[in-house]
Order: sequence, then C-alpha cells, then structure tokens
Amino acid sequence: MSTNTVDNKRKVTTARLLDMKQRGEKIAMLTAYDYSMAKLIDEAGIDVILVGDSASNVMAGNMTTLPMTLDQMIYHAKSVVKGTERALVVCDMPFGTYQGNPIEALASAIRIMKESHAEAVKMEGGAEIRESIERILSAGIPVMGHLGLTPQSINKFGTYAVRAKEEREAEKLIADARMLEEIGCFAIVLEKIPAALAARVSKEVSIPTIGIGAGNGTDGQVLVMHDMLGINKGFSPKFLRRYADLSTIINEAVGHYIDDVKSSDFPNENEQY
Ligand code: KIV
Repeated sequence: MSTNTVDNKRKVTTARLLDMKQRGEKIAMLTAYDYSMAKLIDEAGIDVILVGDSASNVMAGNMTTLPMTLDQMIYHAKSVVKGTERALVVCDMPFGTYQGNPIEALASAIRIMKESHAEAVKMEGGAEIRESIERILSAGIPVMGHLGLTPQSINKFGTYAVRAKEEREAEKLIADARMLEEIGCFAIVLEKIPAALAARVSKEVSIPTIGIGAGNGTDGQVLVMHDMLGINKGFSPKFLRRYADLSTIINEAVGHYIDDVKSSDFPNENEQY
C-alpha cells in the first residue's frame, strides 16, 4: 500500500486528477490488462490504470502495438474494470479504430465504454485526429491525449528513439498539447521527449500531463507494469526503473515446484483429501 493514505479509498475521477495537478500532487499511473493484476495495483493505491495497447507486446508477444483489435482491448479493459474499485480506468483505442473518420472513432469509443465500462479512452496523435477526438468528447466520453513517441506510428517513425528533439517537432508538440487542452481532453501522456520540453508543456497547459521517459517535470508518471515489475526483462530503456525482479522470483518458484513434483515431495499428506 502506498504511504500516501490521504483519500486512499475515494474514487479517482478526471476532476480529481485536475485537482491533483492544481494542488501539485503527482499522479501515479500504471498499465494493467487483467483482473488479478488490476486488483493488486488498485489495492496498492494507484491513481490511474491504463489498459494500454502495450498488451500487444507484453500479453500477446507482438513486436508492435498495431495488431491489437477493438475486441481484444474491450476484453482486457472489461477484466481490469472488474478488479478495480478506486483507480480511474482508461482504455487505449487501438490502431485503426479512430484514425479513419470521426464517425468510426465515436462508434469505437462507444463500444469501449458500453462493453468494458472503462471510464475514459486514450488516443495517440494531435491535429491529425482532432475531429475524431472532438466527436468522442461531444458524446461525453473523456479523452486522454498521447503525444511524443506514439507507438501506433512506429512504421512512420521507423524507430522508438526520443521524439521532438528538433525545434519544429517540439513546436508542433506544444501546439498539439494546447489544442488537446482547448478541445477538452482531461490529460495528456507525453512519451519519450526531452525533459525540458515535457516540463514546458506541463507548465503551459492546465490539464495534467503524464510522462513516460519525459523527465520529472510532468504532473504524473506512467510505466508499463510488466517492465517496472521485471517480468519483461528484455526491455531496458534508460527511463525505466525496475521496482521488482519478478522474472527471477517466478523462475525460482517454478523451478522449486518442478523439483518437488519430480521428487514426489509435492503434494504431501496435508495437501491431499
Ligand atoms: O500502451 C501503453 O502502455 C501506453 C503507455 C506506454 C503510455 O500507451
């Protein structure tokens, strides 16, 4: 359980996140994709659970997030919602379900909200998807923006390197962040951009910014749960801090179990009927 016990039980809402920014309280966000892990991180006091399309990498073993479907995201989000009492649950809109046109975007977002009971959606991109975001917002669905490194555009970027190091891209990112604020997004994820730029955006917009690989000047942080718990050891970017080494713990526990089965030590007489 987090040491911050203030308001630990009260439901997190988009309004509460805004209030946290205004009071200078940092927002802690993690990804989850299933009931059991969502329950654990919710009980630990996480503020926001993102049902990320990173499920494509860490749950399905794909190289990119692009293969994720709407049905798959809804399945994950539905499981997470069942395990969550306090955190705000945000579900990623998967690639290909909102970029085409605003009508299709709205239909996709409505399916997520109706079928999974997530409380908000997240969408990657700025000016290019403005109309889709506006359409979704007009239906009363809260939208979290996502700027900087947007993994659904990996085939355009060709690399997962830091974005917006050049002035032109940085200026576009600032303009996109202002636009997302203006049209009514409740928060913005800033992924893998220079810390100084993320800090500047965080000062210039009134809505919370949540960083990943974007330094300490954002209003909150997000990490992929499998990365920070050391389940997924093959991924070690500079920005990642590992809070546990679950892959070693799981490997040792499973090895122990195998030994006990092979040696007929398990089950013993107290472990049978
Ligand atoms: O899909 C995801 O997990 C994300 C986070 C990395 C922000 O978008």
